[in-house]
Amino acid sequence: MNPLIISNVSEVEKNMAPKFHDLTISKIEELTDDAKAISFQIPAELKNDYAFTPGQYLTLRADVNGNDVRRSYSISSPLGGSELTVGIRRVDDGVFSSFATSDLEVGQTLQVMTPEGRFTAGVGQNKEALLIAAGSGITPMMSIAQSLLEGDDEANVTLVYGNRETKSIMFREKLEFLKDRFLERLTIIHILSREDQDIPILNGRIDGDKVKALINTGAIDPASADGIFICGPGEMIEVVRATCEEMGVEKSKIHFELFTPADGQEPRKAPTKEMLEAAEQGVSVEIILDGSKRSFKLTDANETVLEAANKHGLELPFSCKGGMCCTCRCKVAKGSAEMAVNYSLEPWEIEAGFTLACQARPTSDNLTLDFDEL
Ligand code: FES
Repeated sequence: MNPLIISNVSEVEKNMAPKFHDLTISKIEELTDDAKAISFQIPAELKNDYAFTPGQYLTLRADVNGNDVRRSYSISSPLGGSELTVGIRRVDDGVFSSFATSDLEVGQTLQVMTPEGRFTAGVGQNKEALLIAAGSGITPMMSIAQSLLEGDDEANVTLVYGNRETKSIMFREKLEFLKDRFLERLTIIHILSREDQDIPILNGRIDGDKVKALINTGAIDPASADGIFICGPGEMIEVVRATCEEMGVEKSKIHFELFTPADGQEPRKAPTKEMLEAAEQGVSVEIILDGSKRSFKLTDANETVLEAANKHGLELPFSCKGGMCCTCRCKVAKGSAEMAVNYSLEPWEIEAGFTLACQARPTSDNLTLDFDEL
């Protein structure tokens, strides 16, 4: 039997709203004391649905103690395999991560959404990639680094990876293996905050000063990178991004993955007068999804379209519910709506009429959201 190849998304026509399918867990590996890699076998008939670009994520969904819970995890596996792997670290009070790292077994099925996300690197496009990650932010970097190095003989990758100590490094063995395979083209710089390394610059946290120090010693060169990819806690992303910009790096070259907003970011806005008036009249909302139309009335100005749809038994695509992942992106085909927060849509998309259903609240009597318009 030929191995199934999961292609770069640009190589296949992928123009569909995200969808859940039941996938079988094919492998579970211990990464650290509190993290596991979980792999899913992709059936041949779903090969195109699960085509992805390195850096994208999967949303997993399960019934956990009677609650329908879904969480997004970045794909760590490279292009060209027959499985998709995600890395999951257990977090304190994390309902899904505790379930996933202790209750799942090989052979079990889980609902897995087709790949989503815009934090992507292009094989053949990013030839000098600088990856900066902390903690579980390494997960998409595994896919990006390996895919770029395997897919393009001219690609060079520098990875700066921050952790507390050696034993908390996720994918440590895989990273060592990759380093041995691509000695000339992969540089890995481990920064540890609670374990002393011989070279002082490698101790501490990844922050603005650390990035400047690494630049000054020539360890990294953001100015010559054609793509800088940052993933980790929101505060780390903000400070690294700002430092790179301060050092003259073009904004368009900097990519980051935000799952938790940094402190001090825009709080959720209260409903406006227009929202209150529209809801009081009762807004006729129409949803276009997968070629079919469904309608319902929205009567609470505090409710987003996603929440109201859910109340009416209509399942729309979503993952983070926080304006960050873009899974609920859709186009306002009629009427108007305003988002409470937006951390993911680009200005051109807002201009073109796109919105996030998890944040959108109607400001008109009628509102049509089209999920098929990509
Ligand atoms: S569900 Fe993530 S942005 Fe709406």
